[in-house]
Amino acid sequence: MPPSPVSGLLPVFPWDKLEPYKAAAAAHADGIVDLSVGTPVDPVPDVVRQALADAANSPGYPTVWGTAELRDAITGWCERRLGAVGMTHRNVLPVVGSKELVAWLPTQLGIGPGERVAYPRLAYPTYEVGARLARAEPVPTDEPTELDPEGLRLVWLNSPSNPTGKVLDAGELTRTVAWAREHGVLLVSDECYLELGWETDPVSVLHPDVCGGSYEGVVAVHSLSKRSNLAGYRAAFAVGDASVLGELLQIRKHGGMMVPAPVQAATVAGLGDDAHVAQQRERYGARRAALRAALEASGFRIEHSEASLYLWATRDEPCWDTVGELSKLGVLVAPGDFYGTAGERFVRVAFTATDERVSEAVRRLTA
Ligand SMILES: Cc1ncc(COP(=O)(O)O)c(C=O)c1O
Repeated sequence: MPPSPVSGLLPVFPWDKLEPYKAAAAAHADGIVDLSVGTPVDPVPDVVRQALADAANSPGYPTVWGTAELRDAITGWCERRLGAVGMTHRNVLPVVGSKELVAWLPTQLGIGPGERVAYPRLAYPTYEVGARLARAEPVPTDEPTELDPEGLRLVWLNSPSNPTGKVLDAGELTRTVAWAREHGVLLVSDECYLELGWETDPVSVLHPDVCGGSYEGVVAVHSLSKRSNLAGYRAAFAVGDASVLGELLQIRKHGGMMVPAPVQAATVAGLGDDAHVAQQRERYGARRAALRAALEASGFRIEHSEASLYLWATRDEPCWDTVGELSKLGVLVAPGDFYGTAGERFVRVAFTATDERVSEAVRRLTA
């Protein structure tokens, strides 16, 4: 079948290129250590599972805006954890995992041909996908405030960053918010790794020091996939500018983009509990330290990586050479060029593997 006009707009799905290296790593006598995809492997917290089970009898349709309990849980968490002030339910929009929002936001905002969507030069590929699905022009940039604002409708930030783990400080965020407001460009900050700071405590774009206590022109995107091991549930939300989120709500109602009722209940439980986040951070912190030491001992240099679930590592060689060499050790990592050409001499090493697999990677790297 010939490619449709829509799929023809999109980049080649990059993970297919990694398949031969995955097969090579899987052939290792002691099995593959897959550090390529940042997918959680630890259990879903009991408090969340219980809430999901308790809400299993949900015969009716959920709403796109979510239950009042869910909106309360989101505003409460934003105030407690992000330092946001004066949030109301109108500042909240639940989404079905944040990836769908990233991919469809430009389309749902009516951004189209002749308009532009900016996102970090080294980035999660779905920002570009979203621009292309809307037939807008994708604009990768390291510094959005240096762009010509003409036709620019949306600027994505991602702090902490996937893939580099880099964090934008409050000063950089404040400057970008001010610039975006001055030029009438919507600023959306993907903050799904905000609770995974290691060498710094990441600040939200919704903090009053950054947005001045007003959400005009500013939206933050959060997800429970990483902080609560809920990637399988599809639990996320957008928070910020009420007029933008109100418009999205109308469109998403027509589109049936509802978070399932049991997942809404599970999200309430997850946002209300800090203990499991602290426990999960401890697990990741230990794995990160072990992998970082092993990579450095085997000749890698680590850049950024002060937050998130990744080590951004280089041996100053083309990334596919590194991927190939590590696959011979049975260790699979993601090539940096998946995230932009600026990553072509880096690999992204996820520490979302079990303690046993991480120890095995450390043993092989340092043998
Ligand atoms: C930067 C970034 N944004 C969004 C997502 C999507 O997360 P989810 O759809 O599970 O909420 C990911 C997942 O890896 C990510 O790295």
